[in-house]
Amino acid sequence: MSRAVRYRRFGGPEVLELAEIPEPHAAPDEVRVRVTAAGLNPMDWKIAAQPDMAARFGITLPAGFGSDFAGVVDEVGADATGFAAGDRVYGAAIGRSVADFVLVKTPTETLWPTPEGIGDEVAGTLPVAGLTACAALDAIGLRAGDTVLIGGAAGGVGIFAVQLAKLAGARVLGTASEGTFGFLRGLGAEPVAYGPGLADRVRALAPEGITAATDLFGREAAETALELGVAPERISVVADGPAPPPGVRQTGALDAGPGTLQRITDAIRSGEITVPIAATFPVERIREAVTTQAEGHVHGKIVIAL
Ligand SMILES: NC(=O)c1ccc[n+]([C@@H]2O[C@H](COP(=O)([O-])OP(=O)(O)OC[C@H]3O[C@@H](n4cnc5c(N)ncnc54)[C@H](OP(=O)(O)O)[C@@H]3O)[C@@H](O)[C@H]2O)c1
Repeated sequence: MSRAVRYRRFGGPEVLELAEIPEPHAAPDEVRVRVTAAGLNPMDWKIAAQPDMAARFGITLPAGFGSDFAGVVDEVGADATGFAAGDRVYGAAIGRSVADFVLVKTPTETLWPTPEGIGDEVAGTLPVAGLTACAALDAIGLRAGDTVLIGGAAGGVGIFAVQLAKLAGARVLGTASEGTFGFLRGLGAEPVAYGPGLADRVRALAPEGITAATDLFGREAAETALELGVAPERISVVADGPAPPPGVRQTGALDAGPGTLQRITDAIRSGEITVPIAATFPVERIREAVTTQAEGHVHGKIVIAL
């Protein structure tokens, strides 16, 4: 038998169960990964709570849970290519990553070798948040010399966006609550409190103006950037919500270009970016992990250990 987080009805953390299921085995075109770490993303518990979002991802009940994972290949189907038993890997498997084993069709589904020097805990946080951060910045053509406003800068996507924007040579203003300012400064951003009056506070920090923005939390930072005269095509939004203002692009992980994860893992290996892990929860505490992230004030990533 093996363990997998599953749910039989849609709802909050209370619907998540750690089930004992028969151990899955790789089909001829699959590899099996023994998962050791699974990064948690808001999309995971939103899918479990919202039938319409689940439908968008082809998830039906009863369902598995999670998307990001890292671990070790331990079975290889006869026709599977590209991986061997013992390879360290990471990937994204929507609706099935928080489990002892994940089956991945190769080469058709995404699976990447984990670069040396990057632990499973970090590798298991990279696909959804890392790809999303890169796509949000690429969509606005972020470049050296920009002053960029990042909304929700301290969250799972924000930690990548802030550091990648700094690496690109931009000045970064990031929104957060005051208790988070020290954390954001540690990542290289200049913190600014979200909430009413944001435009005035941004003006005070950057009297010469801002040139680009990406809003990872909602619409406030995007609307503030428009108010401050940033061209709509230099603004992106990431979170679900009302339609973005005309000309502002909504982006997500699927918009990331080829080679994006390589860019991120290279920067991690060279020490140019770090991945703050806010907390690691054993899989038995999955409900607590979800509750913690859903409260909305996590700094960095939450990881589920298997
Ligand atoms: N479409 C896609 O492909 C895709 C992919 C990834 C994420 N997303 C979406 O992007 C959003 C962010 O994801 P995430 O993983 O970064 O979430 P997260 O880790 O839960 O974000 C937490 C951060 O949000 C900040 N925050 C809380 N209230 C805020 C407010 N009113 N204004 C600005 N920031 C606020 C918090 O800062 P304080 O602690 O200082 O309050 C905290 O650091 C989610 O809605 C997620 O579903 C979409």
